[in-house]
Amino acid sequence: MDHKILIADDDSMQRRHLAAILGAQGYTTEMAEGGADALAQLRTATRTGIRLALLDLHMPDLDGIQVLEQVRRDGVTLPILVLTSDGSVARAVDAMRAGATDFIVKPASPERLDVSIRNALALSNLSREVDRLSRQVQNRLSFADLVAVSPVTREAIALARRVARSDMPVLIEGESGTGKEVFARAIHGESERAGAPFVAVNCGALPAALVESILFGHEKGAFTGASERRSGKFQEASGGTLFLDEVGELPLDAQVKLLRAIQSGEVDPVGGKGPVQVDIRLVSATNRDLTAMITKGGFREDLYYRIGVFPMTLPPLRERRGDIPRLARMFLARAIAAEGRSIEGFSTTAMEALTQGAWPGNVRQLENTIQRAVILADGMTIRPGDLHGPGAGAIVETRPAAVERVRAPFDQTLGQSPFLDVDGDIRRLTEIEADVIAQALTLYRKIEDYQLDKTGQDAHGSEV
Ligand SMILES: Nc1ncnc2c1ncn2[C@@H]1O[C@H](COP(=O)(O)OP(=O)(O)OP(=O)(O)O)[C@@H](O)[C@H]1O
Ligand SMILES: [Mg+2]
Repeated sequence: MDHKILIADDDSMQRRHLAAILGAQGYTTEMAEGGADALAQLRTATRTGIRLALLDLHMPDLDGIQVLEQVRRDGVTLPILVLTSDGSVARAVDAMRAGATDFIVKPASPERLDVSIRNALALSNLSREVDRLSRQVQNRLSFADLVAVSPVTREAIALARRVARSDMPVLIEGESGTGKEVFARAIHGESERAGAPFVAVNCGALPAALVESILFGHEKGAFTGASERRSGKFQEASGGTLFLDEVGELPLDAQVKLLRAIQSGEVDPVGGKGPVQVDIRLVSATNRDLTAMITKGGFREDLYYRIGVFPMTLPPLRERRGDIPRLARMFLARAIAAEGRSIEGFSTTAMEALTQGAWPGNVRQLENTIQRAVILADGMTIRPGDLHGPGAGAIVETRPAAVERVRAPFDQTLGQSPFLDVDGDIRRLTEIEADVIAQALTLYRKIEDYQLDKTGQDAHGSEV
């Protein structure tokens, strides 16, 4: 577990005592020697990675209640557990009113701390998830909701942030699953148009016959089946952002119509009385090489220059492995919340495997792999064996060391040829089968042993 916890207490004995308990439970700790120090550290907690605080109520320079009131006023939302030697109900009520997450009477037992911290962290995960989802629903998702540890990801975000504030059309290029859509949403969420509609069109899934009606709308009775008047995606997005996903899949004749709409700033609903003005900001995405398509005549050059005023590329996950641990922990927290499971984190070897994976399906594949692992995991920790699915092949492939260790005992139990007996005669099929099963079981046990050997180490080294 790599959660960082702040211990705020004026008594150095208490600080050391608490740090020892938390250290044994796998947390890292930071110290604050009084109320003012605590206040300063809580205000910068997001940046320094502090995820929870233990706050003593009696501190001579600044009382714990005051610290609480102040940080909550500043909008600091991290869980704060209050510690006091005064077990009075009134004191507890005061603390909770001031924004404490929980109230613990000293001396705090390791068990009580453990339960309290776990609950608070789980709750804080859930409420962050609720915040993110409600921002998404309100079209106010921001880049702060995204993981960016690697320099290349940080650069991409810095670039997208700058262009977000302009009204320029943005073209996001990148392999499948690299985050093109979340980037498009964050560009919208950090633009002047935040809160207005964000309308996505999957250009790869537009039926040729309906392209116009879907994009530009139609009047009632405009064609067979048009039983109701419908406004198209352009009108739905008016005032906001139109996201043209998989824009490279758009058929050529639809490209012409799209270009016309973009150039004129108006759309002509099918069977309508004439053009309608729309005000949209365009963000497009593609995992295809549009310039190569232009050369081959599959994509119109004039359209490319319209939608690609500001092109940006999202690098594949294998080129920004620094993002993987944090992405993995975020997806784990999400999956835990969704599945209602209690899992503490990844074993060290599982996290290593994730970090070294090839991830041809990029962030989306990592997300799927972790969702599956949460469902598959037996214990409190996700182990390499839980990392099945499309990612597994890639993970094992890039980890020759792990494969070697697993294979060694198998080779030793395997005789010269499993098909011949000691006299060199061909064995019965059932015997061979029995042997193979026995060997498979041995291998299975070895895998188990290998993981069991590491349990002690994993308990300390595991993540989240
Ligand atoms: N930097 C990031 N931080 C957090 N989550 C991310 C990040 N990048 C991608 N994701 C998540 O990964 C998943 C895939 O991202 P997204 O759908 O945006 O990718 P895409 O490039 O549009 O994929 P596709 O080509 O499959 O349509 C989503 O759940 C998204 O929220
Ligand atoms: Mg997408």
